[in-house]
Amino acid sequence: MENGVLYLTTKLQIYWKVNTRITSQMENSERAKHFIVAIDGPAGAGKSTVAKLAAAKLGFSYLDTGAMYRAVTLKALNGKLNFSDRGALGDCAKNSRIEFVEVDSNVFPQVFLDGVDVTNAIRDPLVSRNVSEVAKEPSVRSFMTDLQREIGAQGLWVVDGRDIGTVVFPNASVKIFLTASIEERAQRRFRELKAKGYSPIMNELIDEIAKRDEIDSNRETAPLKKAENAFFLDTTSLTIDQVVDKIFGIVTAKGKS
Ligand code: DC
Repeated sequence: MENGVLYLTTKLQIYWKVNTRITSQMENSERAKHFIVAIDGPAGAGKSTVAKLAAAKLGFSYLDTGAMYRAVTLKALNGKLNFSDRGALGDCAKNSRIEFVEVDSNVFPQVFLDGVDVTNAIRDPLVSRNVSEVAKEPSVRSFMTDLQREIGAQGLWVVDGRDIGTVVFPNASVKIFLTASIEERAQRRFRELKAKGYSPIMNELIDEIAKRDEIDSNRETAPLKKAENAFFLDTTSLTIDQVVDKIFGIVTAKGKS
């Protein structure tokens, strides 16, 4: 634990220095005031891991829009809502208070739902299995989209999700579409769940990810798709650091242009 804290502290100092450099490159530019890096892609492509690290490296804030859909799903599950009752799902979203709170000595914000820290609870496999059903509901999406636009209206942001470059921020400064083969995405999810003490089954994970891909890509409202002007990044054979470096390079090149 102590090592973890030290590690984050050291990284923070490094990012602070890098950030000073980037900010000076972008000084006197309108972009320095508002800059959105939109990262979209399918489940398990590693978006939140690399988006968090890229945001820290750039000195940008990070918005995890998937966490918002997960929080509403958790609330709907806890309230035993009927998932085919579309009105109830929309009301559930509207009545949710979702906050990203920077807890002391933690680089990344924790997710709070109605005042309760749900950072870990929203990653539970039960939430993962049900979230696509909630996220396809148009009234839930419209509420979330408004909220995301409000949060990202000012400042420097890395935002990840499914529809960020296509719907939420179609004028984003940089758009990236991150993907990997389904086998690789399932492997990554397998390792992640194992590390958290779950006992995942590989074939079930592949089926579950394929099902989420299917629902996310074929829903009527804001389906997952690559924005025309997005950089396509296949991370199947790349390490996390390599992906973060690529994103960092794309953003700094854009910041200078
Ligand atoms: O990125 P994630 O796995 O935490 O996302 C959870 C779900 O939320 C995913 O199945 C699709 C949905 N989602 C979405 O529809 N639009 C977004 N902008 C973000 C996530």
